[in-house]
Amino acid sequence: MQIGRVQLLEFRNYPTLSWHPAPHLNVLAGPNAQGKTNLLEALGFLVTGRSFRTARSAEIPRWGTESTMLTGELFQIETRRTVRRSLTRLEDGTWQVSGDPAPDWARVIAFGWQDLEIVNGAPAARRNFIDGFAARLHPNHVPTLLRFRQVLARRNRLLQQYPHDTGRLAPWTEQFAAVGMELLGRRRKAVAALQTEIARVYGSLAGTAAKVEVRYVTALGEAAEPEALVAALERRHREEARRGQTLVGPHRDDLAIEIDGVDARAYGSRGQQRLIALALRLAEILPVTEAAGTAPVLLLDDALSELDPIVRAHVMREIQAAEQVFLTTSDVTTANGAAVFHVNGGSVAPA
Ligand SMILES: Nc1ncnc2c1ncn2[C@@H]1O[C@H](COP(=O)(O)OP(=O)(O)OP(=O)(O)O)[C@@H](O)[C@H]1O
Ligand SMILES: [Mg+2]
Repeated sequence: MQIGRVQLLEFRNYPTLSWHPAPHLNVLAGPNAQGKTNLLEALGFLVTGRSFRTARSAEIPRWGTESTMLTGELFQIETRRTVRRSLTRLEDGTWQVSGDPAPDWARVIAFGWQDLEIVNGAPAARRNFIDGFAARLHPNHVPTLLRFRQVLARRNRLLQQYPHDTGRLAPWTEQFAAVGMELLGRRRKAVAALQTEIARVYGSLAGTAAKVEVRYVTALGEAAEPEALVAALERRHREEARRGQTLVGPHRDDLAIEIDGVDARAYGSRGQQRLIALALRLAEILPVTEAAGTAPVLLLDDALSELDPIVRAHVMREIQAAEQVFLTTSDVTTANGAAVFHVNGGSVAPA
């Protein structure tokens, strides 16, 4: 898919912007604090209705304004859709996103400095990564995840209020196990879809024979039936009752990321960890393309920084193969076939 003309009104540091990106590689160059990341965020918001950068809607409208509007054209082979979104402050002070639902083939994959957390952060960052990817493969992953969180919160409350009332807990354990296994199944499929691609992409970016492997880690082993989760919870019931917490389930799982068999957190330099994080995002492309029926748009924020010139060249080669790419950089990079735009104080101009 591709994003055609876009128009922004009061989005972050853009009072107004009307911009026509190129169909393939767009390099957004400019000094710090000019609006490069903001522009990527706007493109992501246009396509998905949310920010990849913040969950706090109040940050998005330009300071001092109470609403933001985004309009853009999305293309896919023969289909063309105009998408409009607005973010408005309501009387009670909350913010409302409204507009057209995105077409069901529209996907973006965003990479930013915060993705380093996937490699060196806490397990929650890796669970979020898998869930984000799984949601691009199956849009109904998000409702499943929300339902899972509700059931988990409810079950934890019961464990705190009535730790010894197993009769009261039982139906919630059943529900937890059913939705938990659904979530687990999708995550396992997502990780399986990444496995081949991550090995190929990391090798191609790093230019070495080092092998990156990902593996889903769960206390449930290979089990796929809800009964296995119910049994695991029953085995830990005493400890659950004492701690007032659900101790087994997808909320405790992790993703092992290994490079030549060594945990990536322990391995190598920050540059290498960044490269693994970038490779994980690029490894999403093929499975997401297959699931959506069209290639996703890539939003790559500062993807070249901290990488040496040879690795940068490999990254450029890899992304040339993608469909539409937006790449920000603070130093102008020349890339064959790239459209370079200068971003300066909330305006965008061809270089
Ligand atoms: N809601 C907002 N209204 C107005 N300005 C904002 C808003 N949110 C952020 N900004 C400003 O937008 C500017 C540009 O931010 P952005 O993160 O896009 O910079 P950048 O070009 O990506 O810089 P860097 O190279 O440092 O990453 C910042 O100076 C920031 O203070
Ligand atoms: Mg930035």
